[in-house]
Amino acid sequence: MSERVTASLNTYRTLPKVELHRHLEGSLRLTTMLDIAKQHGITIPADVLRLSTLVQIQEEDKFTFQNFLSKFNTLRLFYRSPDVIHRITREAVEDAAKDNVKYLELRFTPVALSRAERFPLHDVINWVIESAEEAARKYHVTVKLIASVNRHESAELAEQVAWLAAEHIPNGVVALDLAGNEAEFPSQPFYGIFKEARQAGLHVTIHAGEWGPAEHIREAIEELGADRIGHGVRVLEDKTVVALAKERGTAFEVCITSNYQSGVVEKLEDHPLMKMFEKGINVTINTDDPSISRITLSHEYYNACDTLQMPQYTLKERILAAAQAGFLPQQEKEKLTSQLKKDLNL
Ligand code: HPA
Ligand code: ZN
Repeated sequence: MSERVTASLNTYRTLPKVELHRHLEGSLRLTTMLDIAKQHGITIPADVLRLSTLVQIQEEDKFTFQNFLSKFNTLRLFYRSPDVIHRITREAVEDAAKDNVKYLELRFTPVALSRAERFPLHDVINWVIESAEEAARKYHVTVKLIASVNRHESAELAEQVAWLAAEHIPNGVVALDLAGNEAEFPSQPFYGIFKEARQAGLHVTIHAGEWGPAEHIREAIEELGADRIGHGVRVLEDKTVVALAKERGTAFEVCITSNYQSGVVEKLEDHPLMKMFEKGINVTINTDDPSISRITLSHEYYNACDTLQMPQYTLKERILAAAQAGFLPQQEKEKLTSQLKKDLNL
């Protein structure tokens, strides 16, 4: 990494941050994976560099969504015990806190975490809740959880996850997310599930307009009741969807590096973040999968400002906008916002 990048990154490291879009399964430390592999006799390459090629994006990788999603399949080998799930959750919170994230919405995919050992979904959800709470206290960061379900997996399991998530609203689960292969799997089978989730008091965020057209964003807002959109970078392809998102004040969880690595944009410099902002879209800046992408939120703030020319003042405003779009109770939100305003000199 060049000296300029390093120097500049440091300035972003000190900023207080808000992260609305981070997947637990995309946050595993490589060193932890090696430990787990040893403890559980998982046959994977024993050195960090070779393991990295299986679970992280490499410069020589094909930058396609298929390749991006394939990393999650390898990662599923590691969810072998309750201890593993406790550990990766604690470490995900710790890593965010070390990057000066003050408010973290960590999303996790119970079906993925339960798969290798057929853990009951309710156990997996409890383990993540317990460890997220413990780590939030220890590392002085506010954490809420989002349960995620994949479009390319069973709607029946998704329904079970939705019910369990709703039961755990008192324990810090705030929303339901639809993720996965947007290019090949429609959201229609999930309409009823998201309706019930909303009625049960969960917020809704939907991965849309990432690997699919702007129309998917309309669907997410109108049919699935999305409060926020994951990515949504193809919104500019349809003026009527831009207008809808503005009218509703929908927040967009933009993840610059992830979009580059999954082939949404050909070059980092081509990313439409600033065009979205200029059209009045409520953009926020997030990591998606810090370990898979080998980034921190500081890197993404750097990318927004130094690669995509977002003014520093706008970045600070977007950090506040992210706090405003957070799924926390009004009182907690006001407290977070006023602390951020102070720390950001806004
Ligand atoms: N899109 C869809 N599903 C995902 C993503 C993404 O960017 N990251 C993790 N699961
Ligand atoms: Zn995502």
